[in-house]
Amino acid sequence: MSAQPGDSSRAVCISGGTSGIGAGLVAGFLASGDRVYTFGRDPGKLKRLTERWPEQTANGTLIALVGDVTDADFRARLVASIAEQSGRLDVLVNNAGVILDSGDLEESVDAWRATLETNLIAPFALTQACAELLERSAAPVVINLSSACGQHPFVACTSTSYSVSKAGLDMLTRRLALGLGPRGIRVNGVAPGVVASAMWGGQTDLIASTVQARHILGQQIVTPADVADAVLFLASSRARLITGATLNVDAGYTLG
Ligand SMILES: NC(=O)c1ccc[n+]([C@@H]2O[C@H](COP(=O)([O-])OP(=O)(O)OC[C@H]3O[C@@H](n4cnc5c(N)ncnc54)[C@H](OP(=O)(O)O)[C@@H]3O)[C@@H](O)[C@H]2O)c1
Repeated sequence: MSAQPGDSSRAVCISGGTSGIGAGLVAGFLASGDRVYTFGRDPGKLKRLTERWPEQTANGTLIALVGDVTDADFRARLVASIAEQSGRLDVLVNNAGVILDSGDLEESVDAWRATLETNLIAPFALTQACAELLERSAAPVVINLSSACGQHPFVACTSTSYSVSKAGLDMLTRRLALGLGPRGIRVNGVAPGVVASAMWGGQTDLIASTVQARHILGQQIVTPADVADAVLFLASSRARLITGATLNVDAGYTLG
């Protein structure tokens, strides 16, 4: 049988923790001594994640599952698994997200639907599925991974559906904060600027030019660890009265 993490550790669920920012979040919460549940669709990425954390995988501190956040059956299985193993959920991070196309009128309607399904509807649906488990926590919190692209129609944000999905996510954060506050659940967002990840599809020139044009704070790129620091703060008791906020971690991207 797996060893149980200590009483002070939190049960944390991170969607899409197998690469980029999500992998940084997994590292951050594991370093805090928490038990982390994460998932993604690609078994190869999951394997690489568990190989990075062999001890935590073996002792049940890291539980990595193959699953699609847009799949209602998977969400139900995930919630059942967390309930059985941890009995509650302290932190839910809606991190999984995609960019599937680019352009304005050029984007296909199918790409629009799939983008909104993953980036906007799934965070709502996963929060809905987890709400009862969150209520069992002494200090429950939901954190949505938004984007600078949700705040202004920047030319550098090349996918309209992606920007719209993140603008919607920011309103979802506020609506859920309002609705879940009376139940003791805080809901916040973190909006990064440019983080070099698989999401950019290897477009290193575009990454460099966007950072140069928009990251006014020393033209520094944002790292997954920078994002994890903000998420860990919002998940902590130091943020106990912060709800409905979206914290920009963007080196000034959204200033103008
Ligand atoms: N990179 C940036 O510059 C940037 C900036 C602002 C905001 N963000 C946001 O940060 C979040 C993480 O992005 P990232 O840059 O780390 O991208 P990434 O490296 O492509 O990681 C995305 C993660 O989400 C998972 N995922 C995607 N669709 C999924 C689905 N339907 N079900 C389950 N898992 C799914 C992926 O795994 P599988 O492919 O195996 O499913 C992967 O683990 C996203 O919400 C993104 O919009 C990124």
